[in-house]
Amino acid sequence: MVIRPAAPEDHAAIRAVITAAFTAEFGKSDEAGLVDALRADGDALLELVAEEDGVVVGHILFSPLAADTGARFAALAPLSVQPGRQKDGLGTCLMETAHELLRASGIEAVIVLGHPAYYPRVGYSAEAARPVKAPFAGRSFMALALRPGVLDRPVTVTYAKAFGIPAGSPP
Ligand SMILES: CC(C)(COP(=O)(O)OP(=O)(O)OC[C@H]1O[C@@H](n2cnc3c(N)ncnc32)[C@H](O)[C@@H]1OP(=O)(O)O)[C@@H](O)C(=O)NCCC(=O)NCCS
Repeated sequence: MVIRPAAPEDHAAIRAVITAAFTAEFGKSDEAGLVDALRADGDALLELVAEEDGVVVGHILFSPLAADTGARFAALAPLSVQPGRQKDGLGTCLMETAHELLRASGIEAVIVLGHPAYYPRVGYSAEAARPVKAPFAGRSFMALALRPGVLDRPVTVTYAKAFGIPAGSPP
Protein backbone atom coordinates (compact mmCIF):
# COMPACT_ATOMS: atom_id res chain seq x y z
CA MET A 1 0.00 0.00 0.00
CA VAL A 2 1.28 3.45 -0.95
CA ILE A 3 0.11 6.81 0.34
CA ARG A 4 0.78 9.53 -2.23
CA PRO A 5 -0.53 12.89 -3.37
CA ALA A 6 -3.66 12.74 -5.50
CA ALA A 7 -3.18 13.55 -9.20
CA PRO A 8 -5.77 14.77 -11.72
CA GLU A 9 -5.86 11.31 -13.33
CA ASP A 10 -7.03 9.90 -9.97
CA HIS A 11 -10.16 12.05 -9.86
CA ALA A 12 -12.58 9.48 -11.27
CA ALA A 13 -11.26 6.75 -8.98
CA ILE A 14 -11.42 9.10 -5.99
CA ARG A 15 -15.02 9.97 -6.80
CA ALA A 16 -15.86 6.25 -6.90
CA VAL A 17 -14.21 5.57 -3.52
CA ILE A 18 -15.88 8.54 -1.83
CA THR A 19 -19.29 7.65 -3.22
CA ALA A 20 -19.00 3.98 -2.27
CA ALA A 21 -17.74 4.72 1.26
CA PHE A 22 -20.31 7.35 2.15
CA THR A 23 -23.21 5.56 0.49
CA ALA A 24 -22.37 2.38 2.40
CA GLU A 25 -22.20 4.31 5.67
CA PHE A 26 -24.97 6.90 5.29
CA GLY A 27 -27.10 5.69 2.38
CA LYS A 28 -26.18 8.75 0.32
CA SER A 29 -23.16 10.81 -0.66
CA ASP A 30 -22.65 14.46 -1.56
CA GLU A 31 -18.98 14.46 -0.61
CA ALA A 32 -17.57 13.91 -4.11
CA GLY A 33 -19.30 17.13 -5.14
CA LEU A 34 -17.73 18.92 -2.19
CA VAL A 35 -14.30 17.69 -3.29
CA ASP A 36 -14.92 18.91 -6.85
CA ALA A 37 -15.93 22.33 -5.54
CA LEU A 38 -12.94 22.59 -3.20
CA ARG A 39 -10.59 21.76 -6.07
CA ALA A 40 -12.30 24.22 -8.40
CA ASP A 41 -11.89 26.98 -5.80
CA GLY A 42 -8.21 26.17 -5.24
CA ASP A 43 -9.00 25.04 -1.71
CA ALA A 44 -7.64 21.49 -1.88
CA LEU A 45 -4.78 22.26 0.49
CA LEU A 46 -3.67 18.63 0.77
CA GLU A 47 -5.17 15.65 -1.00
CA LEU A 48 -3.74 12.14 -0.62
CA VAL A 49 -4.73 8.73 -1.87
CA ALA A 50 -4.03 5.24 -0.60
CA GLU A 51 -3.20 3.00 -3.54
CA GLU A 52 -2.95 -0.78 -3.62
CA ASP A 53 -1.81 -2.66 -6.72
CA GLY A 54 -2.45 0.44 -8.79
CA VAL A 55 -5.99 0.88 -7.45
CA VAL A 56 -7.13 3.85 -5.34
CA VAL A 57 -8.71 2.47 -2.16
CA GLY A 58 -8.63 5.51 0.12
CA HIS A 59 -8.69 9.29 -0.03
CA ILE A 60 -8.29 12.25 2.31
CA LEU A 61 -8.59 15.98 1.72
CA PHE A 62 -7.77 19.02 3.85
CA SER A 63 -8.88 22.57 3.05
CA PRO A 64 -7.70 25.83 4.60
CA LEU A 65 -9.57 27.36 7.52
CA ALA A 66 -9.19 31.10 8.00
CA ALA A 67 -8.35 31.84 11.64
CA ASP A 68 -8.86 35.29 13.14
CA THR A 69 -5.64 34.92 15.14
CA GLY A 70 -3.60 34.57 11.97
CA ALA A 71 -2.73 30.97 12.84
CA ARG A 72 -2.78 28.43 10.00
CA PHE A 73 -5.59 25.91 10.42
CA ALA A 74 -6.96 23.22 8.12
CA ALA A 75 -10.21 21.28 7.97
CA LEU A 76 -10.28 17.53 7.36
CA ALA A 77 -13.13 16.56 5.02
CA PRO A 78 -13.78 14.13 3.59
CA LEU A 79 -12.00 10.89 4.54
CA SER A 80 -13.01 7.73 2.68
CA VAL A 81 -11.85 4.13 2.54
CA GLN A 82 -13.29 1.68 0.04
CA PRO A 83 -15.80 -0.68 1.67
CA GLY A 84 -14.09 -4.05 1.74
CA ARG A 85 -10.76 -2.40 2.57
CA GLN A 86 -11.91 -0.79 5.80
CA LYS A 87 -10.72 -1.72 9.32
CA ASP A 88 -7.21 -2.40 8.06
CA GLY A 89 -5.56 0.83 9.13
CA LEU A 90 -5.87 2.73 5.84
CA GLY A 91 -7.89 5.60 7.31
CA THR A 92 -5.45 5.94 10.21
CA CYS A 93 -2.46 5.83 7.87
CA LEU A 94 -3.95 8.49 5.57
CA MET A 95 -4.55 10.81 8.54
CA GLU A 96 -1.14 10.27 10.15
CA THR A 97 0.71 10.80 6.86
CA ALA A 98 -1.33 13.92 6.13
CA HIS A 99 -0.72 15.36 9.60
CA GLU A 100 3.05 15.04 9.17
CA LEU A 101 2.91 16.76 5.77
CA LEU A 102 0.67 19.51 7.11
CA ARG A 103 2.90 20.09 10.12
CA ALA A 104 5.95 20.29 7.85
CA SER A 105 4.16 22.85 5.68
CA GLY A 106 3.38 25.08 8.67
CA ILE A 107 -0.23 24.14 9.42
CA GLU A 108 -0.68 24.55 13.17
CA ALA A 109 -3.98 22.78 13.89
CA VAL A 110 -6.51 20.58 12.16
CA ILE A 111 -10.25 20.44 12.73
CA VAL A 112 -12.76 17.73 11.89
CA LEU A 113 -16.49 17.27 12.19
CA GLY A 114 -16.94 13.52 12.35
CA HIS A 115 -17.42 10.28 14.23
CA PRO A 116 -16.55 11.06 17.88
CA ALA A 117 -15.42 7.46 18.45
CA TYR A 118 -13.08 7.36 15.43
CA TYR A 119 -10.91 10.46 15.22
CA PRO A 120 -9.52 10.34 18.79
CA ARG A 121 -7.39 7.37 17.64
CA VAL A 122 -5.10 9.87 15.90
CA GLY A 123 -5.28 12.55 18.58
CA TYR A 124 -8.35 14.65 17.77
CA SER A 125 -10.58 15.61 20.69
CA ALA A 126 -13.65 17.70 21.34
CA GLU A 127 -11.86 19.18 24.34
CA ALA A 128 -9.04 20.52 22.16
CA ALA A 129 -11.68 22.14 19.94
CA ARG A 130 -13.34 24.01 22.81
CA PRO A 131 -11.51 27.32 22.21
CA VAL A 132 -12.41 27.13 18.51
CA LYS A 133 -15.43 29.18 17.53
CA ALA A 134 -17.04 27.80 14.37
CA PRO A 135 -20.49 27.01 12.99
CA PHE A 136 -20.14 23.63 14.71
CA ALA A 137 -19.78 22.52 18.32
CA GLY A 138 -20.32 19.42 20.43
CA ARG A 139 -18.65 16.03 20.63
CA SER A 140 -18.37 15.56 16.84
CA PHE A 141 -16.43 18.82 16.48
CA MET A 142 -12.80 17.92 17.21
CA ALA A 143 -9.36 19.45 16.87
CA LEU A 144 -5.74 18.38 16.93
CA ALA A 145 -2.89 20.82 17.58
CA LEU A 146 0.05 20.23 15.25
CA ARG A 147 1.99 22.98 17.05
CA PRO A 148 1.80 22.80 20.84
CA GLY A 149 -0.10 25.67 22.40
CA VAL A 150 -1.90 26.84 19.26
CA LEU A 151 -5.28 25.81 20.71
CA ASP A 152 -4.67 27.41 24.10
CA ARG A 153 -6.46 30.65 23.25
CA PRO A 154 -9.82 31.45 21.63
CA VAL A 155 -9.88 31.46 17.85
CA THR A 156 -12.67 31.91 15.31
CA VAL A 157 -12.38 29.92 12.10
CA THR A 158 -14.10 30.29 8.74
CA TYR A 159 -14.55 27.35 6.37
CA ALA A 160 -13.72 27.37 2.67
CA LYS A 161 -16.50 28.65 0.39
CA ALA A 162 -17.40 25.18 -0.95
CA PHE A 163 -18.81 24.18 2.43
CA GLY A 164 -21.55 26.75 1.87
CA ILE A 165 -21.47 28.03 5.43
CA PRO A 166 -22.38 31.72 5.69
CA ALA A 167 -19.81 33.74 7.66
CA GLY A 168 -20.90 34.29 11.24
CA SER A 169 -23.21 31.26 11.36
CA PRO A 170 -23.82 30.30 14.97
CA PRO A 171 -22.96 26.77 16.13
C1 LIG B 1 -14.36 6.08 8.70
C2 LIG B 1 -13.42 5.38 7.75
C3 LIG B 1 -12.66 6.41 6.91
C4 LIG B 1 -12.44 4.55 8.55
O1 LIG B 1 -11.49 3.98 7.67
P1 LIG B 1 -10.71 2.63 8.05
O2 LIG B 1 -9.60 2.47 7.09
O3 LIG B 1 -11.68 1.52 8.19
O4 LIG B 1 -10.14 3.02 9.49
P2 LIG B 1 -8.97 2.30 10.28
O5 LIG B 1 -8.72 0.94 9.69
O6 LIG B 1 -7.83 3.20 10.38
O7 LIG B 1 -9.61 2.15 11.70
C5 LIG B 1 -10.57 1.15 11.88
C6 LIG B 1 -11.12 1.23 13.27
O8 LIG B 1 -11.95 2.38 13.36
C7 LIG B 1 -13.23 1.96 13.74
N1 LIG B 1 -14.23 2.78 13.08
C8 LIG B 1 -14.47 2.88 11.77
N2 LIG B 1 -15.52 3.70 11.55
C9 LIG B 1 -15.91 4.12 12.77
C10 LIG B 1 -16.95 4.96 13.23
N3 LIG B 1 -17.81 5.52 12.39
N4 LIG B 1 -17.06 5.20 14.55
C11 LIG B 1 -16.22 4.61 15.42
N5 LIG B 1 -15.22 3.79 15.04
C12 LIG B 1 -15.09 3.55 13.74
C13 LIG B 1 -13.33 0.52 13.30
O9 LIG B 1 -14.33 -0.16 14.04
C14 LIG B 1 -11.95 0.02 13.61
O10 LIG B 1 -11.82 -0.23 14.98
P3 LIG B 1 -10.77 -1.32 15.54
O11 LIG B 1 -9.40 -0.84 15.18
O12 LIG B 1 -11.02 -1.29 17.02
O13 LIG B 1 -11.16 -2.59 14.87
C15 LIG B 1 -14.18 4.41 6.80
O14 LIG B 1 -14.93 3.54 7.61
C16 LIG B 1 -15.08 5.10 5.82
O15 LIG B 1 -14.67 5.43 4.71
N6 LIG B 1 -16.35 5.30 6.21
C17 LIG B 1 -17.34 5.91 5.33
C18 LIG B 1 -17.10 7.37 5.14
C19 LIG B 1 -17.00 8.09 6.48
O16 LIG B 1 -17.78 7.86 7.38
N7 LIG B 1 -16.01 9.00 6.54
C20 LIG B 1 -15.79 9.79 7.72
C21 LIG B 1 -16.86 10.84 7.85
S1 LIG B 1 -16.77 11.62 9.43
